[in-house]
Amino acid sequence: MFKINSNIDKNSVIYGQNRLYNQKLAEELFNKLQLVSAGGPQPLREKHQKRGKLLVRDRINRLIDANTPFLELSALATINQYNNEFPSAGIITGIGLIHGRETMIIANDATVKGGTYIHETIKKHLRAQEIASENHLPCIYLVDSGGIFLPEQANVFPDKDDFGRIFYNQGRMSAAGIPQISVVMGSCTAGGAYIPAMSDETIIVRNQGTIFLAGPPLVKAATGEEVTAEELGGALVHTSISGVADHLAENDDHALLICRNIFEHLPPKNKSYLPINEPKPVLFDSEELYGLIPAPGQSWPDVREIIVRIIDNGDFREFKQNYGTTLVTGFARLAGYEIGILANNGVLFSESALKGTHFIELCNARGIPMIFLQNITGFMVGKEYENGGIAKDGAKMVHALANATVPFFTVIIGGSYGAGNYAMGGRAYNPRFLFMWPNARISVMGATQAAQVLITLKKEQAAAQGTSVDDNQLQKIENDIFEKYEYEGSPWYSTSRLWDDGIIDPIQTREVLALALVSSLNQPFKKPEYGVFRM
Ligand code: COA
Repeated sequence: MFKINSNIDKNSVIYGQNRLYNQKLAEELFNKLQLVSAGGPQPLREKHQKRGKLLVRDRINRLIDANTPFLELSALATINQYNNEFPSAGIITGIGLIHGRETMIIANDATVKGGTYIHETIKKHLRAQEIASENHLPCIYLVDSGGIFLPEQANVFPDKDDFGRIFYNQGRMSAAGIPQISVVMGSCTAGGAYIPAMSDETIIVRNQGTIFLAGPPLVKAATGEEVTAEELGGALVHTSISGVADHLAENDDHALLICRNIFEHLPPKNKSYLPINEPKPVLFDSEELYGLIPAPGQSWPDVREIIVRIIDNGDFREFKQNYGTTLVTGFARLAGYEIGILANNGVLFSESALKGTHFIELCNARGIPMIFLQNITGFMVGKEYENGGIAKDGAKMVHALANATVPFFTVIIGGSYGAGNYAMGGRAYNPRFLFMWPNARISVMGATQAAQVLITLKKEQAAAQGTSVDDNQLQKIENDIFEKYEYEGSPWYSTSRLWDDGIIDPIQTREVLALALVSSLNQPFKKPEYGVFRM
């Protein structure tokens, strides 16, 4: 292995400025995460606890193996939407270890509008199921939900990827041998009743969990029958009369214990084989990433400076080092596991795309997972490059990626613009996980470029009609577009809408990728559908 050297001057003014800027962003991220981790408003949290129920994050902490990490996904979903009344979209999802097995946990937060579902809650639930399905992870549903948030029903109920898809996914996963376990720790109403009903095994808490298609008020309205929630669908009813649930728990802790016990009896898992060495620490402290990520107005360092602060021991066997140099490709280890890395070092040219294609084929042929460090303004534009066929070369890379059979993971470390997003493992290409750094940006093009395009079009339109656009109008177009792109291109905007699996602190990248990588090994890699074509 060759080692990456670092040429960073840690005493420089720029390093110091970057450091301050990025530490502030990391702090902003931390504060936002702290805020949402509390859940719903204080009075509702108190009401919840007075009922003898654990708060949702405490439930998860007690469910997973002691002293093991929980890889929480999309914690900032809905941030800056709905008056911030749906922290984390009212549902916590993430991967934790249960008896050493990576497991997807999907848990309603009943302190957030009774754990009801708005559009983003569904999207987050479905995304967690998608991750579970792609990585063959058992699912645990900690159910405590009033079902659909009724005022939002049009955005939650009718379409393909709406509420009903949750149960479809459960059926499909169960058939694929992916365990589906429900723990009913509160309300489970209407469609929500199908979550435990569709599970392989279901636990329900006495005097606390209820499962019914229609609650007492609706029953009264529909048939005139007067019935209590317990009589209608309480824990005793379902474990001794209806058979909808299988295990009776006395309280939250007991229910979580039964759930863990179920895992002790699951059959062992066949995992993908991936060469693993003794994990080695990074050669240069990941903390130094703060000094490298450019503050506004500064430029990016060589991306190898980023890579060396993520991989084991700085060991990087670079592939095609002197060809297509705006894309850096090579093999490394992360937490001991063999990985292929593709990282941007400037705009993509034809050569970089060909190199990327070759490398993607290589990783697939060898069964090596890929990590994309995405920081891309797009493919090179202009007559020379179009005439040279850059569209067909970019398409080769996109094609290779679309048919990748090894898992790959994307971290948007800087910009994510245009077709560069696609070639570098954007969301549409099914990376197993996609995370963003807090400094990242994502939009079809940069704000300045978009404003310039629209101004040029306006001027051309006016000229064709024999008129002209005055400077004030042009300035207004520029300002409006700039403002819109700046706002919509921010990572907070993205993560609020679940275009990613979460914003991560850059210094946690290594740990997050290692957890994601280990989770992905639960699904045996398929054989590649192409060999290696020299590009
Ligand atoms: N749609 C919209 N809002 C709902 C809701 C629903 N399905 N269920 C609960 N809420 C809201 C309440 O209006 C309240 O909002 P607020 O804090 O702004 O006043 C908040 O969620 C908490 O509800 P509350 O009833 O005070 O909490 P609780 O813990 O005592 O009870 C439920 C929770 C879920 C058991 C209870 O609210 C309930 O039965 N909801 C209706 C369930 C239903 O019929 N769903 C059918 C959906 S298809």
